[in-house]
Amino acid sequence: MRTGDKRRFRRDPLEYIDSLRRRSTTGIIQLPWGEYCVSDADLARTLLRDPEFHTGMSDFFGELLPSRGAQVAVGHAVRDFLRAGVPQYRAELARAVTELAPASRWPESGNRLVHRCVADLLLHPATPAATRRLSDLAARGGVVFHAPQMWQRVRAEVLRARLVAALTEQVRQRRKHPAGQARDVLDAMLGACPPAQVSDRTVAELHVMMHRAIVVPLSASLAWSVLLGCLHHTADSPWPWPADQVVREALRHRPMPWALARTVPHSLELGGVAFQAGDLLSVSPYLTHHDEHQWSDPEVFRPERWQEPGDHGCFITFGAGPFTCAGAAVAQTLLVESLTALTGDTCLSVTGGDSRAAMAEGNVPRPFTLCRTPMPSKTGPETGRR
Ligand code: HEM
Repeated sequence: MRTGDKRRFRRDPLEYIDSLRRRSTTGIIQLPWGEYCVSDADLARTLLRDPEFHTGMSDFFGELLPSRGAQVAVGHAVRDFLRAGVPQYRAELARAVTELAPASRWPESGNRLVHRCVADLLLHPATPAATRRLSDLAARGGVVFHAPQMWQRVRAEVLRARLVAALTEQVRQRRKHPAGQARDVLDAMLGACPPAQVSDRTVAELHVMMHRAIVVPLSASLAWSVLLGCLHHTADSPWPWPADQVVREALRHRPMPWALARTVPHSLELGGVAFQAGDLLSVSPYLTHHDEHQWSDPEVFRPERWQEPGDHGCFITFGAGPFTCAGAAVAQTLLVESLTALTGDTCLSVTGGDSRAAMAEGNVPRPFTLCRTPMPSKTGPETGRR
């Protein structure tokens, strides 16, 4: 990558790929590091739904599971467990929001908030304290969230190895004494992973992977929802939009996943580019969501578009087609719960934030400070209501 491109990319990665798209006439762009990316929304949709691109296993789980059936079973088991755990998430959220400082630094505070609310769902409270402590350390120490510095990433590898070892021992114990009913994500996974097919260590690795897959996009999407809502409603009053519209629009305007990669199944030509079997071709949710043929005023953050029939183009923050996110619906529920808790009877404002993304584990907001000011109570002597 040339120095000028590097600088422009670092300054604003999303604007950078948008500028490549504006110059392209084929619906496919080549990123400076060589990868090809679909920039046309119709082509993106076709590719994500094409059975030929989805004959094998999804790359999401890497090499961890033996078959596509096993991948689907694990995804569904975790999703079902989380869905049942929404009331538990909500209860912890209420406590966590009360303890949030009036001015908090984001995205770190959002990361901590989401992690705290799912911690007991990931590993139930009767799990050995040392293992739960390692899981917490992993969330703060670069195993779960991207660590910017090399020395932090090296330290995170050591921490990750300790966590996997502790979880492997937990799996061994739980397989010896199975629980009647899933108490956490680890139990849910065990129910979907027969010991003959998936080793103790692999289940432990899967747990670390799902920990990231749940917490990281939820935290980033919550931070985007808070930031974009505040940047677009600067009046000293509660937001005029329902939380679910803000969440959806944030997921559209600043989708956390940077790219959805697919392996080309056989030699083919697309948008004038010749691909060989095994090449990687990705789809950009950001470019798809900013395609003027799909969305009116795609550059504008406008939560109310979600109540208007007909203004919904191709929406792929959670992917689409056979490999679509298993947790999409529950993720949206958890995001709406979180934003509702943060905005309840409160005016939100931000300082230091802008809508440019930083590249970490995907598109994440740059640091900002969130100020929460309680609204004057509507009950009591001023209004005469009790
Ligand atoms: C805002 C939060 C989330 C976002 C943005 C997100 C996004 C995604 C994306 C983009 C994919 C890949 C789709 C593709 O390649 O077409 C994916 C896959 C997946 N996600 Fe999520 N996700 C989120 C939360 C969750 C949660 C809470 C769960 C928990 C159940 C989850 C479970 C999965 C699973 C199991 C897959 C793999 C699906 C498969 O290959 O069968 N995700 N997610």
